[in-house]
Amino acid sequence: MKKYLLITLSFLLFSFTGFQSSPQQKSSDKIINARVDSVLALMTLDEKIGQLNQLSYGIGWGPTVKVSVPDEYKQMIKDGKIGSFLNAIGAEFTYELQKIAVQESRLKIPLLFGLDVIHGFKTTFPVPLGEAATWQPEIVELSAHYQALESSSAGIHWTFSPMVDIARDPRWGRIMEGSGEDTYLGSLMSAARVRGYQGNLSNENIIACVKHYAGYGGAEGGRDYNTVDFSDRTLRDIYLPPFKAAVDAGVETVMASFNEIGGIPSSGSKYLLTDILRDEWKFKGFVVSDWNSIGEMINHGFALDLKNAGEISINVGLDMDMESRSYITYLNELVDEGKVKESVIDESVKRILRIKFMLGLFDDPFRYCSKEREQKNIMTNEIKNVSLDVAKRSFVLLKNEDKILPLSKEYKKIAVIGPLADSKINPLGEWNALGIEEDVISVLEGLKRYVGDKSEILYAEGCKITDPSKDGFKDAIEKVNNSDVIILCVGESRSMTGEAYSRSSLDLPGVQEDLAKELLKSGKSIIAVLMNGRPLSINWLNDNADAILETWFAGTMTGDAVAQVLFGDYNPSGKLPVTFPRTVGQVPIYYNHKNTGRPGDEKNRYTSKYLDLPLTPLYPFGYGLSYTKFNYSGLSLSKDKISSNDQLKINVNVKNIGSYDGEEVVQLYIQDLVGSVTRPVKELKRFQKIFLKKGEEKTVEFTISEEDLRFTAADMNFKSEPGLFKVYVGTNSVDVLENKFELVE
Ligand code: NOJ
Repeated sequence: MKKYLLITLSFLLFSFTGFQSSPQQKSSDKIINARVDSVLALMTLDEKIGQLNQLSYGIGWGPTVKVSVPDEYKQMIKDGKIGSFLNAIGAEFTYELQKIAVQESRLKIPLLFGLDVIHGFKTTFPVPLGEAATWQPEIVELSAHYQALESSSAGIHWTFSPMVDIARDPRWGRIMEGSGEDTYLGSLMSAARVRGYQGNLSNENIIACVKHYAGYGGAEGGRDYNTVDFSDRTLRDIYLPPFKAAVDAGVETVMASFNEIGGIPSSGSKYLLTDILRDEWKFKGFVVSDWNSIGEMINHGFALDLKNAGEISINVGLDMDMESRSYITYLNELVDEGKVKESVIDESVKRILRIKFMLGLFDDPFRYCSKEREQKNIMTNEIKNVSLDVAKRSFVLLKNEDKILPLSKEYKKIAVIGPLADSKINPLGEWNALGIEEDVISVLEGLKRYVGDKSEILYAEGCKITDPSKDGFKDAIEKVNNSDVIILCVGESRSMTGEAYSRSSLDLPGVQEDLAKELLKSGKSIIAVLMNGRPLSINWLNDNADAILETWFAGTMTGDAVAQVLFGDYNPSGKLPVTFPRTVGQVPIYYNHKNTGRPGDEKNRYTSKYLDLPLTPLYPFGYGLSYTKFNYSGLSLSKDKISSNDQLKINVNVKNIGSYDGEEVVQLYIQDLVGSVTRPVKELKRFQKIFLKKGEEKTVEFTISEEDLRFTAADMNFKSEPGLFKVYVGTNSVDVLENKFELVE
């Protein structure tokens, strides 16, 4: 632990020196701009357009470590018609491609290699939703740093991450790729990941790409790629802040999303790509499209054909075309016809060249392609240990009846049952880059390793994840009857969440629940270990299992992490970054909703509710148990009135009254009672993760000021309004202490 803390501290110190705009930084900006201009001056129009073209390496889709370079690509690189590849990987192979660019093309402009390093390159970390459940941005930053270290050692300059789409609909498969439903938590995670990836842009860092700009998570019905339509206020207050946080943290690239918002596809939106991103936020990097999102504007009914799509996108500020080939095919013609000014293309080229200079690629195009570094930095014990630590911190204890966990070491026979118990592929989650199942520790392996010869483990798969067959039940029942306790590993397969994996049901798929019902008949305690990339409506488990541990898809070290948490070597400290509904019919259900004119009241028919469901979710946002118990008391405010120059100190006492040392995420929410527009019933504004020894008490202090109370008001200005505010502090978004203050002019 000590060593780990040391790594964390030295890393943070190092990375925080990265993006400050010092006088040296400004002068180096000037030098880079001058160098960019000098290259631009030498370029033909075709060479300029080539810089804006990004192609996926290899045939079809997905990361390619090494295949021979197809002739078409060789020729295009030589002709300066490709500025960047995605999915070309490996020190040796990227070296080969780069060599063609810098030795055989006229201007020798280096290529930029991008990849979806979403939660790991070779060592897999928990999926981003799981990482968000740590509520520890500093840990998420560290994880991103190590992901960058591994991938930068294998030729990668650029990751298409962080994905910061706020997701209020768990049917949407891509909820797994983000940080959940909350704007504040999502913004902190967004900035942390950008810092972690980019560091100080040495060759151990990679540039980040914040995506999907914007509103993609608002897809109607949670169906991927679907239409998005919400007010400008909702866009600005809920969906955009995590993007702004990335820009403020120095993110170098932004990806335009597939979706339309209110009739305008993002890839053709001047409002998003120029007015907000560049004019309001002063973003200096470049914008890349999503995969063929330029071409998809034809299907949207926004562009006539691929040529027209390219004309629209380049003119609204979309700099690099991923895979639609619109720019490379038509920009030259469009310039000739006077529909696109060469000066517009020049600006885009400059933004891309600037980043190639910043990465040092003009000085040393091969600085990321070293076989020695690749061998030295990939899957080291240090990285695996960090992945293990992040995994343990990401787990959320949803239920622990009669303190059955931590598991007693007295159990001599432990039944480990379920389709996810011995799975090595599923813990990888979607977007596993080069992560392979052979490197994963399954839950079964982890438990076996942990108990050694002290207990016997009896394993049965029981059933598959989605298959209706119950043939495996018999074996599982036999094993359970012969055991003292059941560890039941159920959930989703990794390919049920992620891009294009939306579901209309949130229930456990297949016959997994039927299996659990059969096992319950044995009278043995059930400890459910869940793997999934979205909230699930696990009502039966909640009612019948003795304990439930949410482990998301936790990556390479899953089995060790699960064993260490179940046996109490690590006391769970994760909290839900997203609400778990009781049924899919409750969706959208998120904690920071509006009150309505008829707030839900179980006893009053004419209020906002469903006839057949309680008002509450299954587990609220911010929820998560510990093996110990924390008591909150004495919520006090330094003032009952503040003005815009004041700071308000909010104190609360938290005491560990249970039997274990543990960590707690102390959460602070605020409600603005009356506004020129209606305000959410609660909004997360601060949190602190604290460690308390058993019996220990601490006073936690939060500071807020007028700035924290701002929102997009009726006049569309981002500001606060005087009036009464409630303060809620507690262990989740529901179980809170309450106080209030007034903001005065
Ligand atoms: C499409 C996805 O939407 C995006 O997230 C990803 O970065 C690109 N494909 C590239 O793989």
